[in-house]
Amino acid sequence: MSKDVIIACDFDSRKEVMDFLDLFTGKKPYLKIGMELFYAEGPEIVREIKKRGHQIFLDLKLHDIPNTVMKAMAVLSRLDVDMCNLHAAGTIPMMEGALKGLTRPDGTRPLLIAVTQLTSTSQEAMERDLLIQKPMNEVVMHYALNAKKAGLDGVVCSPLEASDVHRCCGKEFLTVTPGVRFADGDTGDQARVTTPAKAREIGSDYIVVGRPITRAENPVAAYERCLKEFLG
Ligand code: C5P
Repeated sequence: MSKDVIIACDFDSRKEVMDFLDLFTGKKPYLKIGMELFYAEGPEIVREIKKRGHQIFLDLKLHDIPNTVMKAMAVLSRLDVDMCNLHAAGTIPMMEGALKGLTRPDGTRPLLIAVTQLTSTSQEAMERDLLIQKPMNEVVMHYALNAKKAGLDGVVCSPLEASDVHRCCGKEFLTVTPGVRFADGDTGDQARVTTPAKAREIGSDYIVVGRPITRAENPVAAYERCLKEFLG
C-alpha cells in the first residue's frame, strides 16, 4: 500500500496556490483541495492543478440527503480527482448513495473516505455540542465500521486512532490523518494531534499536513522534513 504526505492547500485564491506550487520545482506532491480554495475558484482550479500532474484529494466533506450527495458525487467524479470525502455522520444510506454517484460508467472511481469526528473536536465538545456521551475512540470506530459496511475505502481520523481503525476494519482500510504537527511546532486549532514520525508508527496511510508546510518559512524544506519523518 502506498503511503504519502498530502499537503492541504488551504489558500483563498488561484494566485496564492500557484505561487505556492511554483516553489516545488520538479516535485509533484499529493495535494488536498478543500472548501476554501474550491469555493473561491470553482472546479476549474481542480482541473488546472490536475493538469500540472498532481494527485488530488478533494476535501469537500459532503453531508446531505442520500440523493443529493449521490448527484453531487457524480459531478465531482468527472473532475478526475483521486480521492473524495463525506461525513460518516450522514449515515450508511448516504455513504452508499455517494459511492454509487462517484462510480463512472466504466466502473472506475476516485477513492471515497469518510470523516469520522473532526480532529478539532475534543471529547468535551462532542459531549457538550453533539450530545454524544461515548468515548471518542468508540465513536470513531463505530463511524469507521459504518463506512466499511457502506463499501467505502477508508476514513479521515486522527493519527492517534489509525491503529485501532486498522484493527477494527482491516489493514487495507485506509486511514487518512490530519492533525499532524512537528514536535517543535504550534498546535493551532487542532485538538488530537501528533508528529509525522508518530503517525507512521501508529500506522497512518496518508498524513494531511497544512499550516506546518504552507506557513513555514521554507515550505519545500518543511514538506521534505514531513516526508522523511513519515516515510522513514
Ligand atoms: O493546517 P492543518 O495541518 O491543521 O490542516 C489540516 C487540514 O485537514 C485542513 O484542511 C482541515 O480542513 C483538514 N481536516 C481536518 N480534520 C478532519 C478532516 C479534514 O483537519 N477530520
